[in-house]
Amino acid sequence: MEDNKKIKGFSKLSKRGKIKWIVENFFKDPETVTREMLSYWHSNEDQQKILDGFSENTISNFPMPYGVAPNFEINGKTYCVPMVIEESSVVAAASSAAKFWMERDGFKTEILSTTKLGQVSFKWSGSQELFTTHFPKIKAKLIKESKQITNNMEKRGGGILDIELIDLTDKEKELYQLKCSFETCDSMGANFINSCLEQFAKSLASYVEKELIEGKLNVIMCILSNYTPDCLVRASVECKVEDLGVFAGAMPPEVFAERFKDAVTIAHLDEYRASTHNKGIFNGVDAVVLATGNDFRAIEACGHTYAARNGSYRSLSYCKVENGMFKFWLDLPLAVGTVGGLTNLHPMAKRSLELLGNPSSQELMEIIAATGLAQNFAALRSLVTTGIQKGHMKMHLQNILISMNASEKEIYNAVEYFKENVVSFSAVREFLENLRSGKQIIA
Ligand code: MEV
Repeated sequence: MEDNKKIKGFSKLSKRGKIKWIVENFFKDPETVTREMLSYWHSNEDQQKILDGFSENTISNFPMPYGVAPNFEINGKTYCVPMVIEESSVVAAASSAAKFWMERDGFKTEILSTTKLGQVSFKWSGSQELFTTHFPKIKAKLIKESKQITNNMEKRGGGILDIELIDLTDKEKELYQLKCSFETCDSMGANFINSCLEQFAKSLASYVEKELIEGKLNVIMCILSNYTPDCLVRASVECKVEDLGVFAGAMPPEVFAERFKDAVTIAHLDEYRASTHNKGIFNGVDAVVLATGNDFRAIEACGHTYAARNGSYRSLSYCKVENGMFKFWLDLPLAVGTVGGLTNLHPMAKRSLELLGNPSSQELMEIIAATGLAQNFAALRSLVTTGIQKGHMKMHLQNILISMNASEKEIYNAVEYFKENVVSFSAVREFLENLRSGKQIIA
């Protein structure tokens, strides 16, 4: 029997052709699905072409909410931070934490370093000593022969910082790496780094051939490393414990500060909690990374590797309560760009950067880290006071009501009713049914 879910030459079909094949073979109601798919096409054909250019086999767009968190005071400057995220409460939490800290001198940030990395992995069958002796000359050749690629970056103040030879032969026979470090200025630098690395591999092979060093070279691969522990930013907040104010349930600031510190300590001791704790940080981080057209997978991969740098996975943030002061900070490696890649191509990413005052990549690192810290603060504040569900359920209720086509009046009544009642999908459905049949009294 012919399997109509398989196809040859799919990529050659037009966009409409692709949709037609998909809806006919995978959906029960092809007409409705076609209409839906088409409804998400951009009304401006040129804009749609730009979006289609980012990926392959595109048939439509996938809209995500684009929100903003105002009142972020970072190093004395006020930002309105763009956030792309589908999870309810995240933007509200960031905004609320931003406002809280704006009234307490705001966020402070510091760029600790900006080095990016790449590796050329290769096997060398000859003598290790011989290779090491030749290495200074090899390094000079690699740098010289990549000038065409590095010239522009050097003009912008960046380029190759170093090339180190790493001997891994104790782990795997004949295995070595070139660990290459770069400064890529305002670009994330992936293309620049990968181009340099591939040129290094060519120059390395030509050196071995020309100098007739005895041994066989086999380059395995050249690729940047997403783990950039030396592209690091610190974001912090601090105030007198008494200035924290009184929290929900009349919790005094001293009690809050201790509970908050304990919550951070738990995330340093237990990887189950650390994972959720850091996820909360990335709720903020990823939302800004996405809104500015940066690569959130790279940022996540790096952040989680960094969180496990000492052999066990732990919190990325820290808290101290000492001499009457509350201090809370986050160290985060963030390789982001404000030029190149999608940052200037994606129409909304461009607007996000404009909204942030067209920051340098370092300033963007600072904004992202502050947003991650704000998110972490808001989550822990809820967890150690009211619990997380109260706020979450409020937003969840709105989503359920919208999915059930509730009218404005019904939403108003539901919000009132569920202040005192537990929100669940079935409870909301029952409430609406009762309201619509007159069993539930309308306000
Ligand atoms: C939910 O998206 C994030 C939190 O779970 C983070 C945390 O527990 O710290 C609330």
